[in-house]
Amino acid sequence: MIHAHGITKSFKDLPVLRGVDLEVDAGSIVALLGSNGAGKTTLIRILSTLLKADAGTAIVNGHDVADAPGDVRESISLTGQFAAVDEVLTGRENLILVARLRHLDDPGAIADDMLARFSLTDAGNRRAGTYSGGMRRRLDIAMSLVGRPPIIFLDEPTTGLDPQSRIEVWQTVRELADAGTTVLLTTQYLDEAEQLADRIAILHEGTIIQNGTLAELKRLLPAAQVEYVEKQPSLEDVFLALVGPTESGKDN
Ligand SMILES: Nc1ncnc2c1ncn2[C@@H]1O[C@H](COP(=O)(O)OP(=O)(O)OP(=O)(O)O)[C@@H](O)[C@H]1O
Ligand SMILES: [Mg+2]
Repeated sequence: MIHAHGITKSFKDLPVLRGVDLEVDAGSIVALLGSNGAGKTTLIRILSTLLKADAGTAIVNGHDVADAPGDVRESISLTGQFAAVDEVLTGRENLILVARLRHLDDPGAIADDMLARFSLTDAGNRRAGTYSGGMRRRLDIAMSLVGRPPIIFLDEPTTGLDPQSRIEVWQTVRELADAGTTVLLTTQYLDEAEQLADRIAILHEGTIIQNGTLAELKRLLPAAQVEYVEKQPSLEDVFLALVGPTESGKDN
């Protein structure tokens, strides 16, 4: 669903991406790991047509991001690193707004359906500005799912969430992938990648330095070393070695 080859991007003198290659299969979850400033958001912005690469090609759902950005945009949704929720509107109004922007029929029904799916029905008519961080994040993800795009980009979907909300978001992401949605997410949390991702790609100094399943990545390091501790013989061991086993242990 996503093929990126040789993507490079510099900001003035700062080379951020220096030839990124990445493949994401349909219906899979790929986690992009990297330190602060590694270029994760930059790559997501390029794949979602918000930013032009200096070189390289990216094909998303069969469309080239440079030649057919409109087709790419119809295939994707992006939940950015910073929530795109309008705080003045209610949760329901936020969802209706997105459904209208996507030219969908019956925005109200779509909004209600999404509120129910994300356990926000009770809060639906409250201003999003009054939501907790987790609720806001769930609303943000719900908004990005309006219209059922086949590919979803999640840039640090659980940063700042409490453990409960993180687990809820993970569950949502898993359900999406099980239903066939392709997910590319970035994260700083190694446990998030372990929990969620079919494959993990590590972005470091401008390139993907490793890409594999969790098991494959773990095999890169030698297994935890078994330590041999010398066991001092007890007096009993010495005695038995000298005199042999007891009578009862001997064969007759
Ligand atoms: N529009 C821009 N202009 C100039 N520099 C930028 C711009 N966008 C990003 N950068 C720089 O590119 C580098 C990569 O930024 P990016 O946001 O992609 O990193 P990131 O991996 O998403 O980091 P984080 O984990 O903090 O979100 C950083 O050094 C950043 O300062
Ligand atoms: Mg980022």
